[in-house]
Amino acid sequence: MARIQTRSAVEKIITYPLGSSPEEIQAKFNLKAVRKMSDNENVYGCSPEVKDCIGKAMNSLNFYPDGTVSLLKRKLAGFYNINEDKFLVSNGSEEIIRLLTRAYISSGDEAVMAEITFPRYETNVLIEGGNAITVPLQNGTHDLNAMFSAINGKTKMVFICNPNNPTGTIVGRKELRQFVEKVPSNILIILDEAYYEYVKSEDYLDSIPLLAQRPNLIILRTFSKIYGLAGLRIGYGIMDSEIVNELYKVKDVFNVNHLAQAAAAAALNDQAFIRECADKNAQEMKFVCQKLKDLNIGFFSSQTNFIYIFSQNPIAENLIANGLVVRQMKLEGYLDAFRMTLGTREDNEAALDVINKLLNEKAV
Ligand SMILES: Cc1ncc(COP(=O)(O)O)c(C=O)c1O
Repeated sequence: MARIQTRSAVEKIITYPLGSSPEEIQAKFNLKAVRKMSDNENVYGCSPEVKDCIGKAMNSLNFYPDGTVSLLKRKLAGFYNINEDKFLVSNGSEEIIRLLTRAYISSGDEAVMAEITFPRYETNVLIEGGNAITVPLQNGTHDLNAMFSAINGKTKMVFICNPNNPTGTIVGRKELRQFVEKVPSNILIILDEAYYEYVKSEDYLDSIPLLAQRPNLIILRTFSKIYGLAGLRIGYGIMDSEIVNELYKVKDVFNVNHLAQAAAAAALNDQAFIRECADKNAQEMKFVCQKLKDLNIGFFSSQTNFIYIFSQNPIAENLIANGLVVRQMKLEGYLDAFRMTLGTREDNEAALDVINKLLNEKAV
């Protein structure tokens, strides 16, 4: 059959590399079990309160979900003490990225972003016929001065991933505040804080108060990471209500499914679970970093539940073959680097064990 031509913008797009599923890896290497350490999900699951809530919500699956997500929006408004008209709940926070580009990017518009960051920013800009202006990281961190210099008359939006995926780094509080304050008010600043709840650094900006001053600021958060609801697809953005109204024009009517809405409301209530997960994660991060240092393996200092590890050895391939499914990626200058989501102590020890053995074999 003759190939039917897509729009020229779609021609440029590279399909997101989903990689093999844990089931495929298990079969390929004939493994008893696999541990998924590739997608930065919460290894400790989700709040037990979610399960009860989903059970009840199952009774009304014959109805469409609430298209305005009113109950959860009210809860979020109370949680943050912000008016509910500033929230847009979405099918994962990724949907807000798509809605923003759909509503605001026209052909030839530019969006400034880091060179190595969450790839969906670039893809969504390209889909709309825009151009992604990518700015190299400095030591794994957004270079805000260079990003500011990349802004010109064509710039429509700027993406800051804080902490950054895949490097796990954050930008300094003062530096980020100054950046947000000086970006012209006709340019959207999209601050993606998908891993916000994991951050322990005192140098992390509390961005919420800036919303009142800067109506061009959009903050993205998600229930996919520490809240442990990745499988349900639910996230949200906090922004000026006028932007919310524009995004409503381009969103699907029933974008957030009924079970996800119920689950997220229950998950938000259980902040003790979130604190406990953040603390356990911080302990694991300390443990893994110390072991990597002992093994003389480089990594970026991370404020998230994942760590970007540099290695000239085929470590990632070996981890995967041993059922520890990490995400292989290369960053300019770091051959064979990979990103590993932290697991339980047992998972992390298993991964470190494989690395240790491999390095010892190499040394012989
Ligand atoms: C930085 C960042 N932003 C957004 C997302 C998308 O999350 P969601 O599941 O809410 O769509 C991810 C998922 O990996 C991410 O790492």
